[in-house]
Amino acid sequence: MALLEARGLNVGYHPDRGQRVWSVRDVDLSLEPGEFVGLVGESGCGKSTLGFALTRMLRPPAHIDSGSVIFDGTDIATLTGENLRQRRRGGFALVLQSGMNALNPVRSVAQQFGDVLSAHARKDEKLSKAQVRSRGMDLLDSVKLLPEVLDRYPHELSGGMRQRVAIALALALEPQLIVFDEPTTALDVMVQKAVMDTIKQLQAERKFTAVLISHDLGIVLEATDRVLVMYGGRIVEDQPSDALLTGAHHPYTEALLRCYGDPRADVVELQGIPGAPPDLTLPLEGCSFAPRCELAIDACRTTQPPLVPLGEGRAACLVRAQATKETSHV
Ligand SMILES: Nc1ncnc2c1ncn2[C@@H]1O[C@H](COP(=O)(O)OP(=O)(O)O)[C@@H](O)[C@H]1O
Ligand SMILES: [Mg+2]
Repeated sequence: MALLEARGLNVGYHPDRGQRVWSVRDVDLSLEPGEFVGLVGESGCGKSTLGFALTRMLRPPAHIDSGSVIFDGTDIATLTGENLRQRRRGGFALVLQSGMNALNPVRSVAQQFGDVLSAHARKDEKLSKAQVRSRGMDLLDSVKLLPEVLDRYPHELSGGMRQRVAIALALALEPQLIVFDEPTTALDVMVQKAVMDTIKQLQAERKFTAVLISHDLGIVLEATDRVLVMYGGRIVEDQPSDALLTGAHHPYTEALLRCYGDPRADVVELQGIPGAPPDLTLPLEGCSFAPRCELAIDACRTTQPPLVPLGEGRAACLVRAQATKETSHV
């Protein structure tokens, strides 16, 4: 059984003033226990909004307009207050982009472990200061930080160390699902690699379900079992990572692969994707990639392509679905 299933998920921003934005559109996805899944796409395509919805971290003016997010049998889209707090323990956690204020600047690392653990403790449970410190040291060790970090404040730590602390805080509640939103984007290249290695090692050892959000297909392909490609608020392709390297089924994924360049190739020619990403303040008409797509036919501009089985996974492309149907009839 899937650990998480999102069905018909639509998430928008509804500011008091300014325009409505339809950021996540008709998303259906499922996450299996222990899977490491990538979520990739250009900046502004709705990745963070989807990651926030999957971990019930959306804040106004963001709003789930329709659909459900079933986590381990419960619809978390509608959970609030104490029920939500209890569900987070052994449930789902979000690790934000480094430097995005995941940490409280005026609390020491030990105090922040205490805050997380006591906020989610069972009613009859009271952790002593010594218990919090001991648990904190174990968690720091698991992210390869020394125990002395416990008494530091965030400003005394490097970016990479802060990100490791944020990961340790997420691990504190022993979640079954962790969404990492651009966890290494703000870090130096060498530090990026070290932090990614730690994330991969933790996932392999603890076997939680991981979602790695990144605009960098290279980072995602190196770490994950399966990749979801997002464009204009929709999932347009969903394939095993190794299958994606040898052949994508959506023209947008193909364009992303050309931007990334296969590291195994003798000559890597990088190309950008001509044209601009879609405007998410407008309702959807047809395929949102059609204006930038060399394969687009008239139907693409008027018909919303469904995400159908293609290759080893799914893709949302009328032209490719049609071509596959024709070859399978020959
Ligand atoms: N707080 C907000 N208020 C209004 N619109 C927002 C807000 N946050 C994000 N958006 C819009 O939602 C869309 C998706 O954003 P986001 O999920 O952050 O994309 P990504 O993570 O892929 O860069 C963008 O068009 C963005 O402008
Ligand atoms: Mg984002």
